Amino acid sequence: MLKTFSCAAVFAAATLALSAQSAPSFDKDAKVFRLDGGNTSYVFGVNPRGELQQLYWGGRLAAGDQVPAAVPLREAASFDSSYTTTPEEYAGWGSGLFVEPALKVTFANGNRDLVLHYESHQATPNGLDVVLKDIKSYIFVTLHYEMDPTSGILARWATIENREPQPVTLEQAAAAAWALPPAHYSLNYLTGRWAGEWTLTQETLHPGERVIESRRGSTGHQANPWFAIQAGEPSEDHGEVWFGALAWSGSWRITVAQDQLDAIRVTGGFNPFDFGYVLHPGQSLVTPIFYGGYSAHGLGGASRMLHHFEISHVLPHRVGEGDQAAPKPRPVIYNSWEATEFNVTEAGQIALAEKAAALGVDRFVMDDGWFGQRKDDHAGLGDWYVNTQKFPHGLKPLIDRVHALGMDFGLWVEPEMVNPDSDLYRKHPEWVLNFPGRPRSEQRNQLVLNLARPDVRAYILAFLDKLLTENDIAFLKWDYNRNWSEPGWDQLPPAEQKKVYVEFTRNLYQIFAELKKRHPKVELESCSGGGGRVDLGILKYADEVWPSDNTDPFDRLTQQDGFTYAYTPQIMMAWVTDSPHWLNKRNTSLSYRMLSSMQGSLGIGANIAKWSDEEAATAKRLIAAYHQVQPTIVQGDLYRLIAPRNGSEFSATQTVNRDKSQSVVFAFIHSTQEGRTFPRLKLQGLDPAAQYALTPIEGSATKDTPATASGAWWMNHGLDLGEDFRGDFQAAAFRLDKK
Ligand code: GLA
Repeated sequence: MLKTFSCAAVFAAATLALSAQSAPSFDKDAKVFRLDGGNTSYVFGVNPRGELQQLYWGGRLAAGDQVPAAVPLREAASFDSSYTTTPEEYAGWGSGLFVEPALKVTFANGNRDLVLHYESHQATPNGLDVVLKDIKSYIFVTLHYEMDPTSGILARWATIENREPQPVTLEQAAAAAWALPPAHYSLNYLTGRWAGEWTLTQETLHPGERVIESRRGSTGHQANPWFAIQAGEPSEDHGEVWFGALAWSGSWRITVAQDQLDAIRVTGGFNPFDFGYVLHPGQSLVTPIFYGGYSAHGLGGASRMLHHFEISHVLPHRVGEGDQAAPKPRPVIYNSWEATEFNVTEAGQIALAEKAAALGVDRFVMDDGWFGQRKDDHAGLGDWYVNTQKFPHGLKPLIDRVHALGMDFGLWVEPEMVNPDSDLYRKHPEWVLNFPGRPRSEQRNQLVLNLARPDVRAYILAFLDKLLTENDIAFLKWDYNRNWSEPGWDQLPPAEQKKVYVEFTRNLYQIFAELKKRHPKVELESCSGGGGRVDLGILKYADEVWPSDNTDPFDRLTQQDGFTYAYTPQIMMAWVTDSPHWLNKRNTSLSYRMLSSMQGSLGIGANIAKWSDEEAATAKRLIAAYHQVQPTIVQGDLYRLIAPRNGSEFSATQTVNRDKSQSVVFAFIHSTQEGRTFPRLKLQGLDPAAQYALTPIEGSATKDTPATASGAWWMNHGLDLGEDFRGDFQAAAFRLDKK
């Protein structure tokens, strides 16, 4: 039987301002909210039961279009009740809901029924807040909506507030739920493992639920909090795509469900696994942001939109306003890790710095090994003082030399970790995540400090602040080399300890933010044994990320391809390392390695002390060429002309800068087979009427290729690399400049 609960909510009389293009509107007769931005409209309404029901998400509707009022889906069968099939914006677990709830709670009196109905709404400076309330109790949920006027990317998150006189425990708290009507869809998401991150996984959506998640306390290598759903089969250039990215670096979960009526619901937020957040009277919990966007131009269009949004709205250190804002392209770095591992010394690092400067490197980064009793990975983490055997006069002589060579200086740290063999652990064994009396499982011989604890947060902030105050450091590579185990927080009563899943990550963000405030010029890299902590939450603070410990240039092509579905090449650090590569024992030319890395933010991580003059000259020439076109590569529109996936013999990418005055093309051959020539590359995104001059960066086009031709020529006729471009692990790169 249908419940006949009438909507007790009082509607705010005023229609929200419709002034700016993307200002949300409210049709008070139909009780329909609408947000427009870019080429996207997002619409939801209050249905007669009082639920907030999703009505439309897709291509932009015309200004005068009226979306009909929300009507709950009819009861298809007593087993398929309207409560579970009606797509709610933020459903509480109660009243016969079987799909993923956005919010599930247990009240102090044992009640677990939560039915959220519309209460009120108000305009905010950048969007709209809609308040929901449980039909009986004083649990309030404010849904926040902010739509970017340029891209139509919608930021959604929720604040859950307990105004009851007793505590409630939140067992599941999503940031948002997204809905799509029944159709044939394919799902794209990113999976991986250490040294094998960023595999684009593509599959047809079937009935049931696909869970993409991390239970590890951090983002994880195994899955990344991003999805893209395409109408029909996956396509790079065509068709409708709905995508989303969750801004959270702790345990997270995104579920993509196709229900019994074939409708799609995507719910994402804190991972409910082992979750339990106690809200005392008057307390509230703010969820992470779940961004969602729509593109009518396939997966390529979706990723270009997301890249630009990240550059202009998410990343720190942006210069400029609004849609024009952007961070500086990353300095070309040298990093010592693969050259020296833990064996860093003042003389050795200075020798590398001299070589690096001669190549045209901008930033010299000393990696692991400089602190405490750090000879290998068994000791030292936690003791963040300079090892005086390796650096008898502190870091100053090295930093001064690096500066004198015209570079700035960066340093590796791993602040959240401790080796049991360290002064810190001997002094504070109680600081690590643990359950008293239970084993403390080590990974890489280290334990995780419980950053949720105020004393641990204070310790980490203090030592980093001291390090940055006492030394002229421009950059920290912030590493995180294991996942959680035994995540107890025994300072708190047992019922409250699971708060660790939220407070740990919040404190991490707080430290990043505080360091940036105290040391505004310092830049940060998020590394977690490679790409284990990459998400839009950390990217509010981190200037760049380390996508993978796997620096094999061939493996990197597929990793970089996968990475860029969710993240901009601006943050995608890519080092050139030695050949044969330590992981795959693969031999590749320096030119191939350079071009593979030049698709992202270039770095050198090889043992350059051993490079020949010829190798140094090649690297110097290509670093100089890269410097000239870097903004186009890392902040331009990226077109995947040929994907390196699925055993492809070839791959190619192209980037075009925003004003279409420059384009850069990269082409790679895995292994030529049966004498096949490289496919003609039909370029994209150029101005058809403009003239573009073609300049090889590495390799050459066929002899009859025009030196200058129209955008129409390059896009319709295309670029031929010719008969000579054949072999194993070959690479070529070109730039096109508007005349
Ligand atoms: C992690 C990082 C590497 C390097 C080592 C140092 O594995 O991903 O780049 O910094 O730690 O121990």
